[in-house]
This record gives sequence, structure tokens and C-alpha cells, in this order.
Amino acid sequence: MNWFKRTLSKITEPNSNSQSSQRDPCQSNAYDLIGGDHTIKAIAASFYQFMDSDPQVKPLRVIHPDSLTISEEKLYEFLSGWLGGPQLFQQKYGNPALRARHMPFAVDETMRDQWLMCFEHALNENVTQPEHRQAIFQAVSTLADHMRNQPSQS
Ligand code: HEM
Repeated sequence: MNWFKRTLSKITEPNSNSQSSQRDPCQSNAYDLIGGDHTIKAIAASFYQFMDSDPQVKPLRVIHPDSLTISEEKLYEFLSGWLGGPQLFQQKYGNPALRARHMPFAVDETMRDQWLMCFEHALNENVTQPEHRQAIFQAVSTLADHMRNQPSQS
């Protein structure tokens, strides 16, 4: 996660994260920069609202459960830890091992791009600073690509 911390530290004022001194210094500091728990919850809610309503991402929607309540909660819990806040997902479910958890689903480039479309929408709705949106989107794009388990189409 050091690379992500470095990416975000470029957009951090010196000492702006001094209130998070109890945090693991290897973790990203994005959590505080974008507004903490409240913003992370809002991102997860916007993400699944978009997935549930936009016809462009229907193929992604249909591989998810009918009710998205648990999915939204899990995404919120994961993002909390991944962005440098409390490790809520890990405390509840253990090591995220996200790639392994996605193996039951065929994740190809189309699915990856649809997932990222939902995430970009959620960032646009909830993260005010364009440079924070950009840094987080860049990092999550790498993660989403790592989730691919189907051969490239090209
Ligand atoms: C790349 C395209 C992706 C696809 C097609 C995809 C699809 C899915 C599906 C179908 C599930 C199971 C339903 C559910 O539990 O909600 C799931 C679970 C999950 N996804 Fe993704 N996902 C993708 C990328 C990501 C990324 C990049 C993240 C993290 C930022 C993520 C975080 C999660 C989490 C935390 C769970 C719950 C895992 C569990 O406890 O089993 N997903 N995903």
C-alpha cells in the first residue's frame, strides 16, 4: 500500500494528517482527506445505486445478488480499511484476498470497465476535490484490473 500512500501524499498538505497519528504509517491517508466514514459509506451507497439503475451496467448487475444490501455493506467495510481507516472488512471476514473472492465470477475487461464506471460515478458524487478523485480512481483501476480472471479480448 506504500505506493498508494505516496500517490496521495503528493496531494496532502504537510502535517494535514497529524490527527491520524495512531494509524499504521504504511496505510493510505485518503480516508481522512476525503471525509472519513461518512464519505466512504456514501461512496458504497452511490456505487450500488448506480449499478442497480443504469442500463449500461446491466451485465454487472445480474451477476450480483438480488438484494444489494450486504454487497454495499461489504464494499463500505473494505474501502474503509483500503483507504487508510478502520479495517472493518478484515475484522469481520479475515484477510480480504479479493482476487480469490472474485474467482467464482467471470471477470473480463467488460466487467472490469462496468465496475469502474460505477466507481467513477460514486467518486464524482461524493469526493469534492478532483485530485483526490483522480488518485483514488487510479489506484482502484489497478485493483479492478487485478480482479480479471478471463483472458484479454485483444
Ligand atoms: C473488476 C470487476 C469486479 C467485478 C465484476 C466484481 C463483482 C463482484 C461480485 C459479483 C461479488 C459477489 C457479490 C457480493 O458479495 O457483492 C463481489 C464481491 C465483492 N467485491 Fe467485487 N467485483 C469487481 C471488482 C471489485 C473491486 C475492485 C473491489 C474493491 C475495491 C471489490 C470489492 C468487493 C468486495 C469487498 C466483495 C465482497 C467479498 C466477499 O466477502 O465475498 N470488487 N464482487
